[in-house]
Amino acid sequence: MTQNPSQRIILWPTRVELSAPAGTPLRDLLFDQGVEFPCGGQGRCRGCRIRVLNGKAEVNRAQQERLSSEEIASGWRLACQCVVEGDLEIELRQWDAAILVDDTVFAFRPRQGLGVAVDLGTTTLVAQLLDLARGRVLAVSTALNAQARYGADVMSRLHFAVLGGGQHQLETLIRQQIGALIEQLLFSARKHGAEIADIVVVGNTVMHHFFCGINAEPLAHYPFEPAEGGLQTFRSSALGWKHAGDPLVRFLPCLGGFVGSDVLAGILATKLTEHDDLVGLIDLGTNGEIVIGNKDGLLCASTAAGPAFEGAKISMGMRASTGAISQVTVNRDRVHCHVIGDGTPRGLCGSGLVDAVAAGLELGVIATSGRFSHGENSWMLASPVALTQNDIRELQLAKAAIAAGIKLLMQRKGAKELTRLYLAGAFGNYIDRASAQRIGLIDFPPERVEAAGNTALLGAKLALFSLDSEDGSYAGVRRRVEHVALNADPSFQDVFVEELAFPQARPTSID
Ligand code: FES
Repeated sequence: MTQNPSQRIILWPTRVELSAPAGTPLRDLLFDQGVEFPCGGQGRCRGCRIRVLNGKAEVNRAQQERLSSEEIASGWRLACQCVVEGDLEIELRQWDAAILVDDTVFAFRPRQGLGVAVDLGTTTLVAQLLDLARGRVLAVSTALNAQARYGADVMSRLHFAVLGGGQHQLETLIRQQIGALIEQLLFSARKHGAEIADIVVVGNTVMHHFFCGINAEPLAHYPFEPAEGGLQTFRSSALGWKHAGDPLVRFLPCLGGFVGSDVLAGILATKLTEHDDLVGLIDLGTNGEIVIGNKDGLLCASTAAGPAFEGAKISMGMRASTGAISQVTVNRDRVHCHVIGDGTPRGLCGSGLVDAVAAGLELGVIATSGRFSHGENSWMLASPVALTQNDIRELQLAKAAIAAGIKLLMQRKGAKELTRLYLAGAFGNYIDRASAQRIGLIDFPPERVEAAGNTALLGAKLALFSLDSEDGSYAGVRRRVEHVALNADPSFQDVFVEELAFPQARPTSID
């Protein structure tokens, strides 16, 4: 039998050296190095480009369609379409996701032992190891969700799970990955698994079902309600994690529909149930989650915003990493772009997109209908990065979904205004609040809008101390939150269509 010898693969600029037999998909090798595959490796998005410096990588049809002949001639390839053919040296433009890791000090009730809080996101995972007696964070580990090779967003992963029969695969993958993250935490803090007393995991409804092994099929069709969204508990050994002492693992309960325990954790972290005035919490992503209310009760909903805020489906969209235009400002009728890393611009991330459209509205380049005012097809921001008509359209769809959701929940609450609006997650941290108001995404004065960081992780940490609930199910909070299915609201479509247009410029006030 002939042996398939290992080939040497050198990655630049990290100089990591890997070995793999010929025929190994590059996607499998590179994902472990943190390279993302935004379209699930289908050769559609160009998000996984690499450059061959030495060696050979075949160009298939998908690459011919997605890469120009100049790019192909200078060695550019789509990693998701290539396999190892021989020794290879490649440069990868690693687009590091900006991961928010919360280390806020919070009030706690001391306990013995160590605790682990995990924010299981569709894209990224963040885990922290805590000393429960002192409330201190001892170690942090982060990773891209290993399930992403089966699709970048929840819908494509649901598709793989339900129609592709891959749910068990996704469950095994995520349980193993979180187990490995916990090992890393222990290793870097020089602690033993026997000291772990409690593990809390939070995530959206789809991640909840995948991790807990609950059939995700009901989430793939109307009315998109979870089969079983409650608190799930396991002994760590049942998940394949070997910690002497076999600590309890709690996956906190969902709130309904696509509103998961990451939002429940967000409510705990922002103390929404303690406010007298009406306040809100929004997590902007492919699914935008919205919570509005106060100590008398909260309404929550999710709305399908699409991937525009994450830079996907945008012609030159990318995540917030080196080369992304993350800020666009107007000064004396001229546009200024801030590029992450200060190098050559390579694309536009979500916050840059919102800014760019706000700037276009300010300069009259874009009309309130969303069309370019003078019939152009695109607007050059900073060569070679341009904004196209289709990009504006994608943003309009995303912002209308969020704005309509906020409007309907406020109507139901009989609220005219909110005294504070918390923005959760990475995007909430980077978005310019004035631009968000200018495009009508978040129609509140910027001073009332507050970036709240990784509220999911903070809420998971609070849950380690069971401040709210002795059985860990947060039944008290959940009773005060009513889930609203926006897709079943007959007025949603009308309000959504109204919200597609951008607002007129506000008259400038003279003090
Ligand atoms: S083109 Fe390779 S992941 Fe999308």
